[in-house]
Amino acid sequence: MVTKALIPAAGLGTRFLPASKAIPKELFPIVDKPSIQYIVEEIVASGIRDIILITGRGKSAIKDHFDTSYELEDLLDKQGKKDVLETVRKISHMANIISVRQKAPRGLGHAILCGRPVIGNEPFAVLLPDDLIDQEIPCTKQMIDLFEKHQGAMIAVTKVAKENTHLYGIIDAKEVGERVYRIKNMVEKPPPGTAPSNLAIIGRYILPPEIFPILEKLPPGRGGEIQITDGLVELAKRAPVYAFEFPGYRYDAGDKFGFLQANIMYALKDPDLAPRLRRLLKEIS
Ligand code: G1P
Repeated sequence: MVTKALIPAAGLGTRFLPASKAIPKELFPIVDKPSIQYIVEEIVASGIRDIILITGRGKSAIKDHFDTSYELEDLLDKQGKKDVLETVRKISHMANIISVRQKAPRGLGHAILCGRPVIGNEPFAVLLPDDLIDQEIPCTKQMIDLFEKHQGAMIAVTKVAKENTHLYGIIDAKEVGERVYRIKNMVEKPPPGTAPSNLAIIGRYILPPEIFPILEKLPPGRGGEIQITDGLVELAKRAPVYAFEFPGYRYDAGDKFGFLQANIMYALKDPDLAPRLRRLLKEIS
């Protein structure tokens, strides 16, 4: 049973400076919700309530967002603003957020290892907050079901253009079912022209606890950081590791263009904003 999910949110957000200087990029809004709230909602919709948030310096506002805000709730109550009060209350009640500090920026693999004392000897989900996936059935839920069926680690992948493979972890794999691949090898951000395929890792993983001792012993990889991709290569030598080519849209909210794209696409789903936005898009195109 997968009952815990981990969100690494300790990154400095340098791609978004100066906006991310004092505000965690995970709190930048996609329409009217911080991007990380979409991630928490995906986790909750997948049947998980215990969330381990890996944070670093300057990230306390993320915890505040998911906490109760007594003064605000009291004020909204007195003002009779029931709808917005309900919206605010829901945020603090939807999940148990347990935060752990990553004390040095040593990479994604290290951030995941920081969750070990809370996760213990159980399988768990990892969701990277930059990757927003818009789907009817949450990607994480589909991956948990596949994890239980195949009894092996599950990684989300999507096909990317050949000229973009150097931006992702890329898998070398054999298709074993509908949208499911068995992984033979993986490379973190291969130099242009060297990628083993165009199947790129996207930030959703269902991992067994056996990944922890591997990460603990792993030497630094690309960029001098402990890479989860390298840890998964080691895991694949001992146990089956699968990839799930998820259907649906994915937006890179950690990138300026992806962030704009996500805002436009989610706004087009909002009945209040969509007609005006459509008109504007027509006008400017
Ligand atoms: C991380 C992973 C990479 C993956 C990417 C997806 O890289 O290391 O394998 O393809 O997320 O968003 P990052 O973008 O954090 O450098």
